[in-house]
Amino acid sequence: MKLTVAIIGTQWGDEGKGKIVDYLTEYADFIVRYQGGNNAGHTIFIHQKKTILHLIPSGILHSNKICIIGNGVVISPKDLFSEISKLKKSNINLENRLFISKGCSIILPYHIALDIARETKRGKNLIGTTGKGIGPVYEDRVARRSIRIADLEDESNLRDSLKELSDYYNHQLVHYYYTDSIPYKKVLQDLISFKDELLLLSSDVSNMIIQGIKLNKKIIFEGAQGSFLDIDQGMYPYVTSSNTTSGGIFAGTGIGPHYLGYVLGVVKAYSTRVGFGPFPTELFHDENDYFFKKGKEIGSTTGRRRRTGWLDIMMLKKSIIVNSITGLCLTKLDVLDELSEIKICIGYKNKINNNVVLDTPCSIKEWNRIIPIYRIVNGWKKKTLGIKKFNDLPFEAREYIRVIEDLTGIPIHVISTGPDRNDTILRMNPFNF
Ligand code: GDP
Ligand code: IMO
Ligand code: MG
Repeated sequence: MKLTVAIIGTQWGDEGKGKIVDYLTEYADFIVRYQGGNNAGHTIFIHQKKTILHLIPSGILHSNKICIIGNGVVISPKDLFSEISKLKKSNINLENRLFISKGCSIILPYHIALDIARETKRGKNLIGTTGKGIGPVYEDRVARRSIRIADLEDESNLRDSLKELSDYYNHQLVHYYYTDSIPYKKVLQDLISFKDELLLLSSDVSNMIIQGIKLNKKIIFEGAQGSFLDIDQGMYPYVTSSNTTSGGIFAGTGIGPHYLGYVLGVVKAYSTRVGFGPFPTELFHDENDYFFKKGKEIGSTTGRRRRTGWLDIMMLKKSIIVNSITGLCLTKLDVLDELSEIKICIGYKNKINNNVVLDTPCSIKEWNRIIPIYRIVNGWKKKTLGIKKFNDLPFEAREYIRVIEDLTGIPIHVISTGPDRNDTILRMNPFNF
């Protein structure tokens, strides 16, 4: 039996983490976010009702579960409270269920303006960020000047530190990026207007988690983004600014590695990416249109069309190592239903000299130099949407799953056959592993 389960994206995000976190919340007590911010978009369908969560953990739709935001998460107060009020309108009770670390850094309007101005200045080399100020707020954090929730407790200090940041950023915005300045007074007023509510939600969450574990509470750590967007392990610089991989849990919540029992790697049955950067198995034209339409591949945070491609086993193997993955969850299997053949990338070769490349590359230059080697497997051309038992899957779909298990050496414990909470096959409950 395991007390803690991490649910991590193994690709470039949007693997269906939100759906799986919501599904497994039934077996948990606490659901904890540990990094990222409202750049995330986690979609949950329950009886056709759609909810997209950006900052609040995906356990919130179960009425009696505790949702926690760890110190590694960055918070935009305005977006947090708008998400809270949307949930309240849907009759979700949040009373004594949502707790936020005082160590979270606050996203200010300066961060958002800088994020957008920098992307514009990058021109054709842009990263394709979500424009939510994520990069700039994490920069402040590392530079030891960010405003954290705890700083709201001392208003006089808050005024001083915000003034310093304000002068620094307005100088950049006006004199370097040639955009408008943002009035300090307005930013301060807005921040103060959220102060009481934010402080009411805040607490020592790392202690809560440790105490919870001691009382045998079951905990899900909900990853945001995906492993190849990790600031250290991803395709730098086409990454986000946090540690999206399982290592981020420890710094982002304050618990040690000893406490992590199981890591569930969520992998789409194919690949998608929003934003720019290398994508070895990327598809174009009709094949891309197929995944875009059948998989409804539109970004849940920015509404951008997601790029699509075949499943990349080389990347998946790397994710398995980086995250210490125990078992996999294969999502969106139903999206492959109409294909007569399916490609799986099982290796790379150098496109200049045709030499086989044995590992995932380390630099963008090397990523751009490789092309995939595919294994082709048969499609099933039957409907899998909504199937709940493994043995009810068509033979070829079971074969696809077996091939992925063989190639990675990791069991697929959970299979998702549709967007709804119940469109799920649970072969092994991670908490019972
Ligand atoms: P996340 O960021 O990892 O939580 O994923 P997103 O919510 O951004 O994107 C996943 C999308 O796929 C959402 O629209 C989900 O409703 C949908 N989805 C999740 N699992 C399945 C599945 O098994 N089949 C289908 N067809 N859609 C799914
Ligand atoms: P979820 O949790 C997919 C991508 C952006 C961009 C890069 C940097 O829903 O899987 P940022 O705004 O973070 O500085 O952007 O990261 N990105 C995501 N892509 N899913 C996400 O979250 C993402 N969050 C950020 O598109 O390429
Ligand atoms: Mg998403």
